[in-house]
Amino acid sequence: MSCHQKRALSRSDAEGREPEAERRATVNAPSPVSDRRPLLFVGMRAPFRVVVITGASSGLGASLARAYAGSEVVLGLLGRDRRRLGETAQACETKGARIRVGAIDVADADAMTAFLRQFDREHPVDLLIANAGTSAGPDPECPSEGVDAATRQIGVNLLGAINTIEPLLSGFCSRGRGRIAVIASIAAYRGLPYSPGYCASKAGLRAYGEALRPRLEPRGIGVTIVCPGFFDSPMTDRFEGPTPLRRSNGDAARIVKQGIDRGRRRVVFPRPLVLGLQFCDFAPAIIGDAILRRYRFRIRSA
Ligand SMILES: NC(=O)c1ccc[n+]([C@@H]2O[C@H](COP(=O)([O-])OP(=O)(O)OC[C@H]3O[C@@H](n4cnc5c(N)ncnc54)[C@H](OP(=O)(O)O)[C@@H]3O)[C@@H](O)[C@H]2O)c1
Repeated sequence: MSCHQKRALSRSDAEGREPEAERRATVNAPSPVSDRRPLLFVGMRAPFRVVVITGASSGLGASLARAYAGSEVVLGLLGRDRRRLGETAQACETKGARIRVGAIDVADADAMTAFLRQFDREHPVDLLIANAGTSAGPDPECPSEGVDAATRQIGVNLLGAINTIEPLLSGFCSRGRGRIAVIASIAAYRGLPYSPGYCASKAGLRAYGEALRPRLEPRGIGVTIVCPGFFDSPMTDRFEGPTPLRRSNGDAARIVKQGIDRGRRRVVFPRPLVLGLQFCDFAPAIIGDAILRRYRFRIRSA
């Protein structure tokens, strides 16, 4: 443990929490990396020894957990469903990883902060993957999505990711290394008529990650924004409609891991689908709207 970390720990309050003023001082401290240093390759890359993944109980998060598991690796796995989290943890332990499980709702900012700060004190985090997400959508015939569904998606997908990232920023900054990956979606590129809340949450998450990156890179911390198209998962099973260029879950996890490990700033796939959505965004609204109105789907609630 560095002198800086020891000093920080000795000043921690009785609950073991970092005082807010100190957290702010660390995050807002001048960049330890010279502004003259070329930023082309900044940010930690594989191998990662301490990895935290939210949404590790299912789908992409569970596959990423298994992919990062190995001897000498410590994994912090978060989700709400203890049974499914336990299954992921067991699979990772079989590969030699040490596991700490947190059955926490990402929307619970206090619980997230308490778990993540404690975990980071015991195992300074190298890689944080904010992957937890939820989706729902209105009936295509119904003009309203409903406040509850829209609020829940923004609360989990956007605010939940902020609740995941914020508590670890001071640790990352004091060590001057690490990588943060956020799992957004290609839905971040253009609002789709049949999932307004989901698209808003993912567009917000993408913007949040894009904003963090230039702020954190001079401090030695990399940020990878992942925008996947469709891949096999329980979330996709609830999707009623066409899923063009859909990938297997294993393929998606391999692409995402490869991008993170190589220190990519963006991981976006499949390209043709992203280009299509970008076209709908750049084109006059009347054209983009006419194209996307024809893409009808419904997402059953979880
Ligand atoms: N599937 C796709 O085609 C697709 C495409 C683009 C982007 N994505 C994004 O990729 C990420 C992973 O999706 P997936 O397809 O793997 O979905 P999934 O199989 O439904 O998994 C979602 C994960 O998020 C967790 N989660 C949901 N709400 C939570 C909450 N309130 N608190 C804590 N954890 C919560 C779930 O844990 P519990 O069940 O234990 O609560 C689960 O582990 C999501 O962010 C999703 O939006 C998916």
